[in-house]
Amino acid sequence: MRIGILTGGGDCPGLNAVIRAVVRKGIGEHGDEIVGFRDGWRGVLEADTVPMDLHAVRGILPRGGTVLGTSRTNPYAVDGGADRLMATLERLGIDALIPIGGEDTLGVATRLADGGVRVVGVPKTIDNDLDSTDYTFGFDTAVGVAMEAIDRLHTTGDSHHRTLVVEVMGRHAGWIALHAGMAGGANVILIPENPFDVDGVVAHCQHRFDSGYSPIIVVSEGAKPKNGDLMLSTGEQDAFGHVRLGGIGAALASVIEERTGREARAVVLGHVQRGGTPSPFDRVLATRFGLAAVDAVHDGQSGVMVALRGTDIVRVPLSAATAQLKLVPAERYAEAEVFFG
Ligand code: F6P
Repeated sequence: MRIGILTGGGDCPGLNAVIRAVVRKGIGEHGDEIVGFRDGWRGVLEADTVPMDLHAVRGILPRGGTVLGTSRTNPYAVDGGADRLMATLERLGIDALIPIGGEDTLGVATRLADGGVRVVGVPKTIDNDLDSTDYTFGFDTAVGVAMEAIDRLHTTGDSHHRTLVVEVMGRHAGWIALHAGMAGGANVILIPENPFDVDGVVAHCQHRFDSGYSPIIVVSEGAKPKNGDLMLSTGEQDAFGHVRLGGIGAALASVIEERTGREARAVVLGHVQRGGTPSPFDRVLATRFGLAAVDAVHDGQSGVMVALRGTDIVRVPLSAATAQLKLVPAERYAEAEVFFG
């Protein structure tokens, strides 16, 4: 078979492990030909391809980023985009497509599958907010990076008797903040799902100072206060209509400094969370997803996404995975709240 593969949306540690697994299993076990599309859906729109043979995937398992490149190109926001996608796939004789991405990339995949293209999606996002899978690869690595930062910030914060506010990624879902904050012993964790009370945050900081230590606040970039007056975004939007966020950490640090009378600093972890080598968990999960995607293609499946349920890799309808985001449930947040203050 001729199988197309692409990586779309924000890059994520483990993308190369999926690509390698697809190529190794597709070529090694089935004699497939694997065609890589460069930079996500842009590569399909423009028929920009790269042959993915065994040589192309040598040594890429531990490498962060994606050897195929990525973009946030939304083909349905481009004039004639839908027709151009179909024309490329037909002209290149692509029998099946394996798009690796989050809600946006797989949303496009869902529409293509509805239109008759054989598509098997692979879930990717450091945010872990794709529905129908217990975990996406990339999340574990991002949490590890954030946790290490929090560990380091504890000692400098305590030395200077100041609050440190750590802003992590997470536009709509607070999974990174929740897990990194819990693993790193944060004194407050703020997530988009639970608008926060500024007075409560300040009280937790004060309590932490009273106990002789300095507070560490972990805040998702998309977290908002209850009264909404700290909400920040640049106003810029990407092709899928997402606003570019940023600044909640700095805004919060300034309020905390003013209200506690002690210095506060903000640290924005940003893209450091997405770069670099994947963790062992992510390498294994990504590899298993890649193998399972090739199996699904050869089983004649379409309109499905490979997913992790417990320790099993299963197939779920793409439409179910992209219908809504997987948010942090209230009971998971309540577990973290036990350690606030
Ligand atoms: O891919 C998800 C994500 O990392 C979000 O957590 C974050 O809001 C966004 O991407 C950042 O996008 P960009 O890389 O375009 O700045």
